[in-house]
Amino acid sequence: MAVLVQVYPDKQAASAAVAAKIGALIRRRNAEGRPAVLGLATGSTPLPLYAALVRLHREEGLSFREVVTFNLDEYEGLTGDRPESYRYFMEEHLFRHLDLRAGSTHVPDGIADDQPGACVAYEQAIRDAGGLDLQILGIGRTGHIGFNEPPSARESRTRRVQLDEVTRRDNASFFTRPEDVPHGAITMGVATILEARQVELLAFGSSKAAIVRRASGEVPTSACPATWLQLHPDCTFHLDPGANAAL
Ligand code: GLP
Repeated sequence: MAVLVQVYPDKQAASAAVAAKIGALIRRRNAEGRPAVLGLATGSTPLPLYAALVRLHREEGLSFREVVTFNLDEYEGLTGDRPESYRYFMEEHLFRHLDLRAGSTHVPDGIADDQPGACVAYEQAIRDAGGLDLQILGIGRTGHIGFNEPPSARESRTRRVQLDEVTRRDNASFFTRPEDVPHGAITMGVATILEARQVELLAFGSSKAAIVRRASGEVPTSACPATWLQLHPDCTFHLDPGANAAL
């Protein structure tokens, strides 16, 4: 098996294509009378995708009323009302612009007292919803998907992880001071991601070219967690010319 690589003229075109796929999935599920279950990502990469989804909702009447969402990850120690948290990010850039039902969006709890228990419950909630229909991913320069830093096993599940220093530096711009970036996070595991029926990874810009090449071409290994995506039967990498190492 291999990932399918699609290169677009720019990130807007890539994002519009993925938004159209999500729109088609939601309409299909709405017609069937059952919820579409979306796995969502944060970071700067999915922002044009989320803008495109909001446009589909506003301008083409795409309803998210029956959609259920699960985010990949959350920083440890941050409550959802903190602007740096991924819950806040999602509310700001996507959720508050749509007609989602209260309680239909899920983000791992960064402040749970019983963190292992909360991680097991998160996996169970995904199963109870019927499993992820479509998972959106970005990719970190360490090869992480979600916050599955190297090494992350193929069998890994939702858990607490230690963040790589490269990742902490890359994400520092979202925080007031670099030292404010948490050292830990809660993330869906590699196995959780691989169980999604469809995986759509977006990567934009030349800073991602080297890791995209490794992720799509190297033998799958815990040392570069994104390589595990090659084992997925329906995984597409959506790239702009900068992220396409072939150029
Ligand atoms: C964070 C997120 C990842 C994301 C990555 C890339 O670490 N946990 O899910 O893919 O950053 O971020 P960006 O899209 O800003 O390059």
